[in-house]
Amino acid sequence: MNARQLQSIAGDHGTPVVVMDHEIIRRNYAAFKRHLPKVQAYYAVKANPAPEIIRTLYRAGASFDVASLAEFMEVHRFIEHLPAKEQQDFIWDKIVYANPIKPKATLQALDRYRPLVTYDNIEELRKIKDHAPNAGLALRLRVPNTGSMVELSSKFGCDPGEACDLIGKAFRMGLVVEGLSFHVGSQCTNFDNFIQALNMASMVMEESRSRGHEIRILDIGGGFPAAYNPHVPPFKDLARKLNAELHRLFPAQIEILAEPGRFLVATAATCVATVIGKAVRDGKTCYYIDDSIYHTFSGILFDHCRYPIKSFRRGRKEICAVFGQTCDGLDTLSQSEELPRLRIGDLVYAENIGAYSNASSTWFNGFAPAQVVHINV
Ligand SMILES: Cc1ncc(COP(=O)(O)O)c(C=O)c1O
Repeated sequence: MNARQLQSIAGDHGTPVVVMDHEIIRRNYAAFKRHLPKVQAYYAVKANPAPEIIRTLYRAGASFDVASLAEFMEVHRFIEHLPAKEQQDFIWDKIVYANPIKPKATLQALDRYRPLVTYDNIEELRKIKDHAPNAGLALRLRVPNTGSMVELSSKFGCDPGEACDLIGKAFRMGLVVEGLSFHVGSQCTNFDNFIQALNMASMVMEESRSRGHEIRILDIGGGFPAAYNPHVPPFKDLARKLNAELHRLFPAQIEILAEPGRFLVATAATCVATVIGKAVRDGKTCYYIDDSIYHTFSGILFDHCRYPIKSFRRGRKEICAVFGQTCDGLDTLSQSEELPRLRIGDLVYAENIGAYSNASSTWFNGFAPAQVVHINV
């Protein structure tokens, strides 16, 4: 997306606006497949649930990781026209319900679709037995999340030491554990997390096999880092390590899945906003824009992500602060951005803002979420 295109879209649609380039989504998906040819990619819909994105990835042949009944039904819409048998095959082969904790009502609604669902504790197992006995199971392991931008290991995953017991219990209840899963934490640039997780999963599989329970699926989760800046190690380096370890540790017949979210969509979006206010406070220029931390920039809070704010205007840059449009002091986008001197009405933009951004946008202070313009659909 070049500056002219962004300015023209902002001119046509107004601001705040998020421009989502589907060519980049297709390119990211193709790169994932190319570098990890043995891994089936389940797009983690939570990263950005726009139906247009689901459609693009559905057409590209992707599978889907859903976190709620609503996300499941959003994907299901794309297969409703298929004959019943093909719908069931799609659900079985291409959807994983990867939220380890599920309300009873969700399990009851999911049961007739017989999806693969994750669990990580005995209470969840009992709920699944009572409310979704037809689901397939994947046990989620707790693995190191060291250094990942978003840590998940304190919230989900069983200790590897209790894994085989939880697998055995499931089989004794008449359920079937099809797979093991893990998540190394989101935006994981410490590739050792993946290596350690694979080694743990391999040991659990081995032990489980020796107890008579064959596991046939390994779900290596998400965490694949998006190229937010030049310091992020390249995906192909991670892929090379993963391919080697997968080959070394797992028999060829084990199906390998992954749940990339951010990697597929983060770099596909740029948001454009307008400077709506300007003040000098303590000698520092403060700009106010018509987006906010409660809107497209919500990833600053929920995703621990930074989105450098840039200007289309040239000129000598100075340190300034950029705030969102709401009345909340927390709505601070940056206390030290380098921007040229801006005027009210100028446009600014932030790149790589396609994941965990407008997905968690709200109506706080009565401001609507930014509109999203999809290009190259
Ligand atoms: C279970 C699960 N799978 C996949 C993802 C996607 O992770 P990422 O966007 O880091 O690829 C998440 C993110 O929180 C998750 O919780």
